Amino acid sequence: MNDTPEIQEGHNRIPKGWLVFFFAAIVFLIWYVVSYTPAISGWSFYKKYEQEMAAAAKTEKAVPASSYAGDEKAVSEGKEIYATNCAACHNADATGGIGPNLTAALKYGATENDLFTSVSKGRPNGMPGFLPQLGSDRISKLVAYLETLRKK
Ligand code: HEC
Repeated sequence: MNDTPEIQEGHNRIPKGWLVFFFAAIVFLIWYVVSYTPAISGWSFYKKYEQEMAAAAKTEKAVPASSYAGDEKAVSEGKEIYATNCAACHNADATGGIGPNLTAALKYGATENDLFTSVSKGRPNGMPGFLPQLGSDRISKLVAYLETLRKK
């Protein structure tokens, strides 16, 4: 008779906590790869950067920096800004095209503040807001230029 007990490998069950951790790690890995791979989720540093820049532009104060009325240097800068950004829609001499004539009566008002608001925030029927692009200082110069057109 063979009374030598059969040699058996001691086998402990894997602790539950370890299994939970193991599968959680796999799930996390899959989630991580999916959400941070630009080709899968569209996530990218560039997008984050653009979002941050847009948020920063919003905090740019939406009130006139200061009045440049009568400041010739500012007015000539305003004229250049106008030629680059506005002439396409309002015509080179501001008498209107896609956008309305800016030398005539204005629907949204013609005070310095009204003009500033029209340009910085935009208007509903196709006037884009320029605050993020130009900033309040350049818009104030632009407004000073528009005012010279209106006084003529
Ligand atoms: C894409 C074309 C476009 C560009 C570029 C554009 N505008 Fe306009 N603008 C319009 C349109 C269209 C309106 C009319 C909006 C409305 O009636 O709601 C308008 C309205 C305005 C008004 C208000 C007019 C009113 O009757 O009260 C002002 C002021 C103005 N624009 C100034 C500017 C200035 C300054 C720039 C350059 C920074 C500029 N716009 C660039 C299309 C444009």
